[in-house]
Amino acid sequence: MANYRVGLGVSGGIAAYKAVEVMRALQKAGCDVSVAMTRHATEFVQPLTFRALTDKHVIVDDYDPENPDPIAHVNFSQQIDLLLVVPATANIIGKFANGVADDFLSSTYLATTAPVLVAPAMNTTMWEQPATQRNIARLKADGVKFVEPISGELACKTVGTGKLEDVENIVAQALAVLGSSTRAEDLAGERFLITVGGTREAIDPVRFISNHSSGKMGFAMAAAASARGAKVTVVAGMTTAEAPANVEVVRAISAAEMHKAVMERLAGATVFVGAAAVADYAPANAADAKIKKDGRDTLTLELKKTPDILGEVSASRPDGMIVVGFAAETNDVIDFARAKLEKKKLDIVVANDVSKAGAGFNTDTNIISVLTDTKTENFPLMSKREAADRVCDAIKAEREARNGK
Ligand code: CTP
Repeated sequence: MANYRVGLGVSGGIAAYKAVEVMRALQKAGCDVSVAMTRHATEFVQPLTFRALTDKHVIVDDYDPENPDPIAHVNFSQQIDLLLVVPATANIIGKFANGVADDFLSSTYLATTAPVLVAPAMNTTMWEQPATQRNIARLKADGVKFVEPISGELACKTVGTGKLEDVENIVAQALAVLGSSTRAEDLAGERFLITVGGTREAIDPVRFISNHSSGKMGFAMAAAASARGAKVTVVAGMTTAEAPANVEVVRAISAAEMHKAVMERLAGATVFVGAAAVADYAPANAADAKIKKDGRDTLTLELKKTPDILGEVSASRPDGMIVVGFAAETNDVIDFARAKLEKKKLDIVVANDVSKAGAGFNTDTNIISVLTDTKTENFPLMSKREAADRVCDAIKAEREARNGK
C-alpha cells in the first residue's frame, strides 16, 4: 500500500508524543506523511522530531519566514489523501466545527477536499461537555470520521473517557479510510498500460504545438492501480507532475511516438487507460530547419490528424483487455462521453467538465462521472488520487462481471 499521502495534524495535548508513533507506523505501511502542528503542540513535541523523521519542513505557521511555501495551507491541503489529526484537542475540534481558520491546521481543514479522521484526547470533563459533544456531532454530520477516545487513566490522574485510542487502532482506521485494508491488492494480476500527459507536435526543430496537460490525473491512475497490486507501465508525454514510485515510465513526446510505444506494449497488458491529452492534429510537414520569418507576414500550417491511439487499441485489443478512455468536455459532458463510449467501443469512459472550477488541467482535484454500458456514476469534487480509485473500482467491477462473479 504505497503512495498514499497523509497530512498528520498534531494539536496541543499531552498525547502529542503518540503522533510520532502514528507517523512511523503510517510510514511503515508505505504512506508519505507530512506534518502540520499547532503552536501549542510544539510545547509538547519539537517540530524537529517530525522533521528529522519525514525529511520535510513541519508547518506550524503559514507566515513563518522559514516556511518554504507562502500559501502552504492551500498546497498542503490539496496534496493529501487523508487529513489525520492526532491528538485532537477540544479546541481544534471546536475550530473545525465552526469554520474558524486562525492557524495553519484549522486553515488546512477548511481548504482540504481529502477525507478527515480525528482522534480526540482530552480530560473526561472536557470530553463530556455539551459544547464538545455538540461540535463532534456537527463534524460527524459534515462527514468527518472519528477514532473515538477510550476509557483509561488520563494524564490528570483521573480515570475516564478521553484517552487517545491505541496507536495500532488509529493507524488501522486511517488505512481503512484510505481504502487500503479492505481493497489491498484487489487489482493484483492486472497489467495496466496508461497514457499520461500532453503530446508535443513539432512545427520545426525549435517550435511545437501542445496543450496544458500536467499528467496529474494519469499519474494518479498509475499510483492507484499500483497501490492496489497491479503492474503498471506508463507511456508519458510532457508532464509537470511527478511520476509515482513503483511504475515503469516510458517517455514518448509526440502522438506518433506515443502510438508506437503503446502498440509495442499492448500484447502484455490487461487494462488500457487513455489518460493522455493526445494532440488530435499535428503539422503535416514539420520543417527540418528553423522556419525564418523574413519575408513572411503570415504563416499557414497544414495539420493532419494524428493516430487515434485509444480507438486503435480498442479495435485491436488482446482478448480480455478492459479499455478505458477519458472525455474532457466543456458542454453536454455525459452525452459526448456516452457517444465516445459507443463509437470507440470502450468499456469505461471517465468524463469531466473542464470548464468547472476544480476539474480542469493542472488542478489536484477533479469532478468525474464514470460511464459504462449500463450506468453513469457521478462523483463530487475529490482529489485526483481519490477519483483514480473510483475509476479502479469500475475496472474491478468490470473484471468481476466478466469473470461471472
Ligand atoms: N486519444 C488518443 N489518441 C488521440 C486522441 C485522443 O488516444 N489521437 C484518447 C485520449 O487519451 C482520451 C480520449 O482519446 O482517452 C479522448 O477522446 P477523443 O474522442 O479524442 O476526445 P477529444 O480529443 O476531446 O475529441 P473531440 O474533440 O472530437 O471531442
